[in-house]
Amino acid sequence: MDTNARREQWLGLVAAAADAAALAELDARLFGPKGEVQELVRSVTSLPKEARPAFGKAANAVKVEVEQALAARREQFARAALAQELGATDFDPTEPGPRPVRGTLHPITIVQNELVDLFTSMGFQWQDGPEVESEYFNFDALNIPGDHPARESQDTFWLREQKGLGRNLLRTHTSPVQVRTMQRLAKAGQKPPLKVIVPGRCFRSETVDKSHEHTFYQMEGLVVDRDVSTANLIHTMKTCLRVILEREVQVRLRPGFFPFVEPGFELDVNCPFCRGKGCSVCKQSGWIEILPCGMVHPNVLQQGGIDPEHYTGFAFGMGLQRVVMLRYGIDDIRQFMGGDLRFLRQFPEVAR
Ligand code: PHE
Repeated sequence: MDTNARREQWLGLVAAAADAAALAELDARLFGPKGEVQELVRSVTSLPKEARPAFGKAANAVKVEVEQALAARREQFARAALAQELGATDFDPTEPGPRPVRGTLHPITIVQNELVDLFTSMGFQWQDGPEVESEYFNFDALNIPGDHPARESQDTFWLREQKGLGRNLLRTHTSPVQVRTMQRLAKAGQKPPLKVIVPGRCFRSETVDKSHEHTFYQMEGLVVDRDVSTANLIHTMKTCLRVILEREVQVRLRPGFFPFVEPGFELDVNCPFCRGKGCSVCKQSGWIEILPCGMVHPNVLQQGGIDPEHYTGFAFGMGLQRVVMLRYGIDDIRQFMGGDLRFLRQFPEVAR
């Protein structure tokens, strides 16, 4: 058989196919089970031995060439069909797609991240504690016995009592992690210095309003060492507030009562909105109450297995919502848990 003549004929047929359907038919005719091209290739067996290699080679080359021509023509039809389809609609494949919506960090997360960065740069370690806490760590170990009036100031979500396990609750503050941390240190046979921060979620059975939430975030801080003083506490708090509020701050201490610190303080910062002149945010006083803190009570050190004769410490419990509200000028605490995307989208996508 004359491979060259067949080649010309087949390529001609491919070029002449009018549409995709005609091409498919041709494909079957040439390459199908008893296809003409296959026959040509197979006919090598009917030739004398010496003629076979040359013929086989030529036949195969024709096969490949016709296959390629078919594929190219098929693609041409496909492209034309697509172009026609697209021309019929106003779909523009070159137009950029819609920008995917990226989530944003919650403002509490943003401020918490910054605080964690700051405190770890000062040598503090991040410590976690359970949200479901025992009565012992949440109250008793913190010098708040069962009949103590301070318990009433923290309206507690109690959990159903489990036989023999004592009462559990949803922690009302992050302070229980103070004694947990000290006990862990003592168990490991280690001694202070101890410097930890405990960011975490707390719960109180509060009536929710503009400035109260049943679920809120605190960041506890605890430092225990030899000769820790109130001056160390004030310095640490000032540094922290300056960084977080992004301005120089003045602070003042007022006495504050918490059974687990002695003395206890309420630390106020001069109002960042009016710079101390008096405005609606600070209720004309020029000061904003921001941080309860104090020197760790000797009974608490003892509960933690630390000798109060040799060591002293300070602790603070920052309300994160409070700080975030001051930082961004937010006036309703319910926004944080409200899930309103218009509120949440106002914050930067990525923390600095
Ligand atoms: N745990 C206290 C509260 O939530 C705050 C606090 C922490 C006070 C540490 C003093 C020292 O009310």
